[in-house]
Amino acid sequence: MVRTIRPVKLEDVAMVSEIEQTSFPDPWDRAIFEDLASHGGTVKTPSGESVVMRVVEEDGKVTGYVVWQQAGKGPVGTVLNIAIRRDCRRRGQGRLLMAYTVDAMRRSGLRICSLEARESNTAARLLYESLGMTPAGRRPGYYGDEDAIIYTLVL
Ligand SMILES: CC(C)(COP(=O)(O)OP(=O)(O)OC[C@H]1O[C@@H](n2cnc3c(N)ncnc32)[C@H](O)[C@@H]1OP(=O)(O)O)[C@@H](O)C(=O)NCCC(=O)NCCS
Repeated sequence: MVRTIRPVKLEDVAMVSEIEQTSFPDPWDRAIFEDLASHGGTVKTPSGESVVMRVVEEDGKVTGYVVWQQAGKGPVGTVLNIAIRRDCRRRGQGRLLMAYTVDAMRRSGLRICSLEARESNTAARLLYESLGMTPAGRRPGYYGDEDAIIYTLVL
């Protein structure tokens, strides 16, 4: 089995969208992934932020992805999205993508990795905690029907 992490390409978008639709009650629009893919996996916003997307593939098939954001000069990188195909979960790919993301943030000179998780999302919360992230606060009603727990990691 060979696992690779690489920038998203346009031909990945169908699988990425399928994973997104089957992973979240409020999935991202496919156009967001298309935009990232058509810019080589990194989109720079007019305000100087970068949004970066990487996919993980196993034996040549896309099995998950991560999207993060980093400000031009600020110290905080934020993980915006991470998902692994349902039938590929619990085999270490989420941890692999998160470890890759944390490493990439550190190499970019960021000082803090931050993200939000639904309070009830035990799988994600245990993944983040297994990487040393700690709960730093709560955003009441962030998902409408549920609070978000904010996690941070000092890089
Ligand atoms: C969260 C998610 C990305 C984890 O990906 P994964 O590849 O299954 O996770 P891993 O196999 O790398 O698991 C790493 C650790 O996370 C924890 N974990 C992951 N899934 C878990 C589950 N279902 N129950 C309990 N702990 C879990 C465990 O501590 C696990 O370590 P272990 O297997 O050695 O016990 C995946 O469940 C997913 O795509 N969920 C839907 C999308 C989502 O909720 N994204 C996060 C938004 S905040």
